[in-house]
Amino acid sequence: MEKIAVYPGSFDPVTNGHLDIIKRASKLFDRLIVAVLHNSSKDSLFTFEERVNLLKEVVKDIDNVEVDCFTGLLIDYCNNKKVNAIIRGLRAVSDFEYELQMAQMNRQLNRDIETVILTTSTKYSFISSSLIKEVGKHKGDISQFVPNNVSKQVYKKLHGRE
Ligand code: COA
Repeated sequence: MEKIAVYPGSFDPVTNGHLDIIKRASKLFDRLIVAVLHNSSKDSLFTFEERVNLLKEVVKDIDNVEVDCFTGLLIDYCNNKKVNAIIRGLRAVSDFEYELQMAQMNRQLNRDIETVILTTSTKYSFISSSLIKEVGKHKGDISQFVPNNVSKQVYKKLHGRE
């Protein structure tokens, strides 16, 4: 039986930290689905279609990774897709409580789906999508924190040019 994992998130936008988790998780499972939350209530810089397209470009060379989207409960999406595990990245102690609560709630909703938490590589542990947007807003260099295409699109969104 194929082992399938899902890596859910907002990805507004995808960063090198996310990409690091994607690459490492893809080695642990037969298939990895990166699932973008389509959440109309959360203010985002990129539309949900743009976030999906940026991710597709970023993972195009990783054979067993695909990009999808979901609305509603993550666990319902996992049930529909016959997913075995949910992947989350842990950057710092501050992430822990939220991740633990989510993992426990999801486990309560479906005991057959495990949450697998990967510790983020230390060189990416301070990166977040909000900080990328903030640094980009003030025209700082974000190219070392996000994939090339993302860096260009963040600048285009915020300043009308790459
Ligand atoms: N590298 C860099 N940044 C990372 C990261 C990593 N490895 N891991 C997380 N982050 C950052 C993200 O960039 C984001 O930063 P921001 O807050 O500055 O935007 C932040 O951590 C959290 O984002 P993300 O990991 O995308 O999680 P999220 O909180 O946006 O989404 C869901 C979490 C989608 C998994 C969760 O809300 C969900 O499942 N929603 C569906 C509804 C549901 O089922 N709810 C019940 C859950 S029990």
